[in-house]
Amino acid sequence: MPNVSMTVNGSPVSGEVEGRTLLVHFLRENLRLTGTHVGCDTSQCGACVVIVDGEAVKACTTLALRCEGADVTTIEGLADADDLHPMQAAFRDNHGLQCGFCTPGMVMAAVDLVRRKGPDLDEATVRHELEGNICRCTGYHNIVKSIIAGAAAMGKQA
Ligand code: FES
Ligand code: FES
Repeated sequence: MPNVSMTVNGSPVSGEVEGRTLLVHFLRENLRLTGTHVGCDTSQCGACVVIVDGEAVKACTTLALRCEGADVTTIEGLADADDLHPMQAAFRDNHGLQCGFCTPGMVMAAVDLVRRKGPDLDEATVRHELEGNICRCTGYHNIVKSIIAGAAAMGKQA
């Protein structure tokens, strides 16, 4: 089987994969980074979103081999030791999660949204940009509130 090497959450990693192995399975099964979830088999839910070379991708539609040499950040890599990332803290403070299944993907997509649109986000923009992330608990109101607050906090930190 081919070997793939990449940097995940700042550490070099490598492992044997099949040509068809998806990034999400490499992360979860080879590296045991189970914060990246699989919520569908149709590329619709966004529970699997991670950052690859600075951009959000759905890890369920990305081949692990395509990430050779890439810099990958998962939800496990966002916090700074015991200090939550501002977007994580905003989800906690604004009750932005219910069961939490969609939350890692929501947070990673939100971090990418701030990178693309800046820290001053309005509700309409957040709702539009979240179309690739589904929350089965349907608590979108507080998710949107969390992302607006997290974006503002990221702006203050920059
Ligand atoms: Fe990737 Fe649903 S698991 S979009
Ligand atoms: Fe349960 Fe979103 S919080 S799926």
